[in-house]
Amino acid sequence: MRVKGKVAVVTGGGSGIGCATSLRLAEEGAAVVVADLNEEAAANTAEVIKEAGGDATFVKTDVTNPDDVQQLISTATQTYKGLDILFNNAGISNQELKLTELSLEEWDQVINVNLKGVYLGMKYAIPEMEKQNGGSIINTSSVLGFKGKKYQAPYNASKAGVVTLTQNAALEFGTKNIRVNAIAPGVIDTPIVDGWRENEWKWEIISKANALRRLGKPEEVANAVLFLASDEASFITGSTLMVDGGGLTF
Ligand SMILES: NC(=O)c1ccc[n+]([C@@H]2O[C@H](COP(=O)([O-])OP(=O)(O)OC[C@H]3O[C@@H](n4cnc5c(N)ncnc54)[C@H](O)[C@@H]3O)[C@@H](O)[C@H]2O)c1
Repeated sequence: MRVKGKVAVVTGGGSGIGCATSLRLAEEGAAVVVADLNEEAAANTAEVIKEAGGDATFVKTDVTNPDDVQQLISTATQTYKGLDILFNNAGISNQELKLTELSLEEWDQVINVNLKGVYLGMKYAIPEMEKQNGGSIINTSSVLGFKGKKYQAPYNASKAGVVTLTQNAALEFGTKNIRVNAIAPGVIDTPIVDGWRENEWKWEIISKANALRRLGKPEEVANAVLFLASDEASFITGSTLMVDGGGLTF
């Protein structure tokens, strides 16, 4: 087992990549605290883990709310006596609109969930990891953190921000044995891309816009997160791993 005995917090663990990663980490021996704004979805992920013989709990969390995030981290450390892995994964997309047409509220919401949420997770988890002399944090960027796409202004900006925020945290806490990395998924088959799926011809192009000419699966992203979370990645920090089927180069 690759993360046996470790304690992991996964935000956005009720759906898609977060759900698949929660299950994968549990399969490999971690106790998982599943956090999501959608309480029912988080509870369901935790239940699936327990039914399979793993250890999990869930906490209703809005990653944009500092009190919620503090409560999440303290639930993890009190329930399981520590915190080894944080997967800052919760994220939302924006309506496909020109930046001039986008509401200020939507700009703020996307930046708050995708970027501030990552910051808050690290702000409250790192002191706990420092107490135990180490930990591994994985933040979720995107291929769209590396290339601009029309009508994706706040999503692009938030995901680009995650890349340098990750480097920043890696530099500040490397000597505390806390590794901080990011993943940059391409198009993965989860509900977040449902908006694109509705347009048949567009979906045909988007879902195959990579070297492998297919959509990625949440489980394929989960395996990358598991690797970065585990001791196998002991000399990797500050990096962003593309999990995009070659989408960035396409
Ligand atoms: N699916 C893709 O193609 C793709 C590509 C690149 C990056 N990503 C990123 O991967 C991450 C996971 O996305 P997914 O594809 O699994 O989407 P998803 O919609 O299936 O899951 C996102 C989860 O985050 C939760 N969430 C939303 N706002 C929240 C908040 N404020 N607090 C707590 N939880 C909240 C949702 O309830 C949901 O369960 C996101 O950060 C997304 O931007 C996804």
